[in-house]
Amino acid sequence: MAEVRPELMQRITTPELAQRYIDGKIEEIRAQVGDKKVLLALSGGVDSSVVAALLIKAIGQQLVCVHVNHGLLRKGEPEQVIQVFRNEMNANLIYVDATDRFLDKLAGVTDPEQKRMIIGGEFIEVFAEEARKLDGIEFLAQGTIWPDILESEAGIKAHHNAGGLPEDMKFELVEPVRILFKDEVRVVGKELGLPDNMVYRQPFPGPGLGVRCPGAITRDRLEAVRESDAILREEFAKNGLEGKVWQYFTVVPDFKSTGVKDGKRTFDWPCIIRAINTTDVMEVTVEHLSDELIDHLVNRIISEVPGINRVLFDYTPKPPATVEYE
Ligand code: XMP
Repeated sequence: MAEVRPELMQRITTPELAQRYIDGKIEEIRAQVGDKKVLLALSGGVDSSVVAALLIKAIGQQLVCVHVNHGLLRKGEPEQVIQVFRNEMNANLIYVDATDRFLDKLAGVTDPEQKRMIIGGEFIEVFAEEARKLDGIEFLAQGTIWPDILESEAGIKAHHNAGGLPEDMKFELVEPVRILFKDEVRVVGKELGLPDNMVYRQPFPGPGLGVRCPGAITRDRLEAVRESDAILREEFAKNGLEGKVWQYFTVVPDFKSTGVKDGKRTFDWPCIIRAINTTDVMEVTVEHLSDELIDHLVNRIISEVPGINRVLFDYTPKPPATVEYE
C-alpha cells in the first residue's frame, strides 16, 4: 500500500515550524534508538547533512558519520564536511580518503554506465568496510526524502538510498526527513544551524565530477574540471547568481585543440560552461549570462586553470540535451 504523508501536516516554511519538527523528531529518534549506535554515510549534500545535524542534536556521539571522499567531489567539499561536523558540531566523524582507490578502478574506463557502476559499487564497498570495523551499530540513518518515496512508488527510479549494502549487514533504518519535501529539508537545515552554502547548495550528482570528465577520467583533466568549477561557483556567488540559478558547472571533454599563449603554440582542452534553470529537471532552460560575466569567466579560466586554452558555452535546453554530459 502506498505510504501517505501525514494528512494534516503543515508545509514547513518558517523557523518556528522547523523548530517544532526538530523537537518532535529528537524525541522520536531517542525513543527509537535508545542507547544504541547509528551509522550514517555523510556526503555533505543537503539531505545527509540535515540528517546528521538532527541526529547529533538527538544522540550526540552515538551517531557515527562516515564521509567517503571518492576523489570526485568539488573543491573544498571534504574540508567543509570536516569543519562543520567534526570541528563545529563535535560529531563522531570518520573521514576516508579513497581517492586513489576510485581513480585506479576508473582508469581507462570510457563507458558512462560502467563508470557509474564502478563509482556506486566502490562507494558501497568502502562504506561497508568502515562499518565492519565498528562494534555495536544497530541502526543506519538515511537522508531519504518524500520525493524519493513518491518516485520509487511510481517506478520512476529505484529508491537510491535503500539497500545496496551486503546481505549480511542488516540495520534498522532511521529516516528523520522521510516525510519532507526538499524545500522543507532546507528550512529545517537552516534552523539546525547549517551554513547557507550547504543548505542551499545546487544539486550535485552522486558520481560527482566523474560525469563532468567525459570518457576515461585522468587526474589532470579531473583537476581542470575541479578548478574551473570552483572559479565558476565563485563568480556566480560574486555576481548574485548563487541560489538563483538552479545548477551550473563545467565540463572538460577529452579532446584537445590548438591555441597560442605567450607567443607559443599550445595544445590543450576546452572547458565547457553549462548553467541551467528548471523546476522539475524534465525540462530545462538555459541561463543567459551577461557579456561582462562571460568575458570575465573566459579570462579567469584560461589564465588560472592548467591545461585549458578555450572556453565554450553550452546553450542547449533539455530536451534535447540532458543536464549532465554522461
Ligand atoms: P540529467 O543529466 O538526467 O540530470 O538531465 C538531471 C538532474 O539529475 C542530476 N543527475 C544525477 N544525480 N546521480 C545523481 O544523484 C546521478 O547519477 C545523476 N545524473 C544526473 C543532474 O545533476 C541534474 O540535476
